[in-house]
Amino acid sequence: MNTCIIPSELVERLVSARRVAVLTGAGISAESGIPTFRDALTGLWAHYDPQELATPEGFARNPKLVWEWYAERRARIAGVAPNPGHFALAALEKHFERFTLVTQNIDSLHQRAGSREVVELHGNIARVKCSAEEIVVGEYAETESPPRCRCGALLRPDVVWFGEMLPAGAMARAEEAAEHCEVFLSIGTSAQVYPAAELPLRALSAGATVVEINPERTALSRHAHFVLPGAAGKVLPALLEKLAASA
Ligand code: OAD
Repeated sequence: MNTCIIPSELVERLVSARRVAVLTGAGISAESGIPTFRDALTGLWAHYDPQELATPEGFARNPKLVWEWYAERRARIAGVAPNPGHFALAALEKHFERFTLVTQNIDSLHQRAGSREVVELHGNIARVKCSAEEIVVGEYAETESPPRCRCGALLRPDVVWFGEMLPAGAMARAEEAAEHCEVFLSIGTSAQVYPAAELPLRALSAGATVVEINPERTALSRHAHFVLPGAAGKVLPALLEKLAASA
């Protein structure tokens, strides 16, 4: 029996909803053992300089360092498994006519948990693309330094870095889902990085019920209709249990 308190009004709104959109951030993978970015003690950006590791300029200055940092993160991700939060979202998908899961995460844990319609806003760490042509050339293979594309430019991880545009198709799908859903769930994100952070606000303006699941308050909390303070791995299974019992 899960002891999280899920408001019955929220369950009723979910029971009557046809379209649901979800935005996830690093917090949903925290219980799998992947560090978040902005936690003051354990967050990646508390220990590493994003200007050196997550910008095109940083890559141009020191491609080997950036390549190695992503290789380490990739190895860590390969060693973890989806947690009950990821699995609950995969199960939740089956309750609605349209369910769009938009993620800022690059770790494939939603797909590994069985989610089908996943929109990756910030790319995927498993893929590599040409740093000049911006074309995905395949899966990452272990090498000491970044290999070269056929065009001669270096290959880089297929992730979005600071100062870069989001993949246009992914952002368009995310916006469409946010603007046409009845319920929007924002889970495990500090809601600080734009344009992803704009999605719950777009949903709000379009009249959706906005729900936040996060143990801490965020920039979104004061706008959300429901704030469920807790770990995604506890709150989401409780929400699923309530919904399944009411459907
Ligand atoms: P952040 O590190 O900014 O925020 C993680 C959020 O997860 C925080 O609000 C935590 O309180 C919350 N959290 C921690 N544990 C949780 C749990 N068990 N369940 C639910 N929530 C939990 O990560 P993001 O918001 O994902 O971008 O960061 C957004 C982007 O900034 C990332 O995609 C990355 C980063 O720079 C790029 O690399 C382009």
